Amino acid sequence: MNNINNSTIFVTGGAGFIGSYVVEELLTHSPKKIIIVDNFVRGSNRNMVNFIQNPIVEIIEGDIRDVALMDRCIAQCDYVFHMAALRINACAADQKAGFEVMQQATFEIANLCVKHKIKKVVYSSSASVYGLAQNFPTPESDNPYNNQTFYGGAKMWGEQLFRSYKFMHGLDYCALRYFNVYGERMDTDGKYTEVMIKWLDCIRDNTAPVIFGDGTDTMDFIHVRDVAHSNVLALLSEATDEAFNVGTQTETSLSQLLDVLLKVNNCNLSPIYKEANSINPVSRRLADISKAQKLLGYEPTITLEQGLTDLSTWYFDNQKQVNE
Ligand SMILES: NC(=O)c1ccc[n+]([C@@H]2O[C@H](COP(=O)([O-])OP(=O)(O)OC[C@H]3O[C@@H](n4cnc5c(N)ncnc54)[C@H](O)[C@@H]3O)[C@@H](O)[C@H]2O)c1
Repeated sequence: MNNINNSTIFVTGGAGFIGSYVVEELLTHSPKKIIIVDNFVRGSNRNMVNFIQNPIVEIIEGDIRDVALMDRCIAQCDYVFHMAALRINACAADQKAGFEVMQQATFEIANLCVKHKIKKVVYSSSASVYGLAQNFPTPESDNPYNNQTFYGGAKMWGEQLFRSYKFMHGLDYCALRYFNVYGERMDTDGKYTEVMIKWLDCIRDNTAPVIFGDGTDTMDFIHVRDVAHSNVLALLSEATDEAFNVGTQTETSLSQLLDVLLKVNNCNLSPIYKEANSINPVSRRLADISKAQKLLGYEPTITLEQGLTDLSTWYFDNQKQVNE
């Protein structure tokens, strides 16, 4: 039986967008201690404002490539959420760093989890492992050969590493393949999500939002709080040696996304369409979430309309604070 209550939990990347929500949800289950290691390349104190003063959370500014630090942290823990990673663009820009952070550090962490008899690892994977999937909705059994990115390859390798460690060493784990995560604290210049922020800027400035391409590319948008909840469910469940899609099983085109964003902001701007400046090799995303529903009891709860309302409020409030 996995149990958060009274457990010590390690969260790599806990100062980041998704990690900070995972820590917040873990805290509602009364753990003994949570240890966060983050090097703040993307994470921030601001993301952690709801728990930065909490005495049971130890926040360590450090690097997951520091094996001695990982050893000290993991030695104290029952469970590990491995969430620290470089983003897809950062991996493409610097493949050596991509290898060191996504693969080498994950390898050392997996070894330390075996050494210190960690009860379960929850590994943040990604829908990027599919590239342009073969089937829609995409089940976890879709093969990864269409992935063309270093990042997607590294995530698939991480999943396979944990599979082999379950097989060789009995290390329990679940891998979660998040789809297009959005919500308050999101990265404002991410590859897939930047479009929402750019459009919010247009709404603020009363200028026409631009859609690159014909607006028919689709994504499966999942709110960050639902993603955090899937992490907690994965830890608590008896499921092991499994990968799960974490999406909504709803396909939203760019044009539909803009419509909802304009609607929740009571805005009637019309978009302008421009030729896509690069070919998006992944023109479609739609998760089959039935496996997570069945084995984890996962159910997305936040509609796109609600999520975009909250995101807009957060973004505009934040800007007010910066300008004050
Ligand atoms: N946001 C998405 O849409 C999405 C989709 C699929 C998968 N993921 C995965 O989910 C996880 C969390 O992503 P996120 O969106 O919260 O991104 P994020 O960048 O906000 O969080 C990652 C955190 O890891 C930290 N980090 C990076 N390199 C580190 C290092 N060497 N040592 C210590 N800390 C380091 C960063 O500072 C950051 O706080 C990642 O593994 C990511 O690949 C995210």
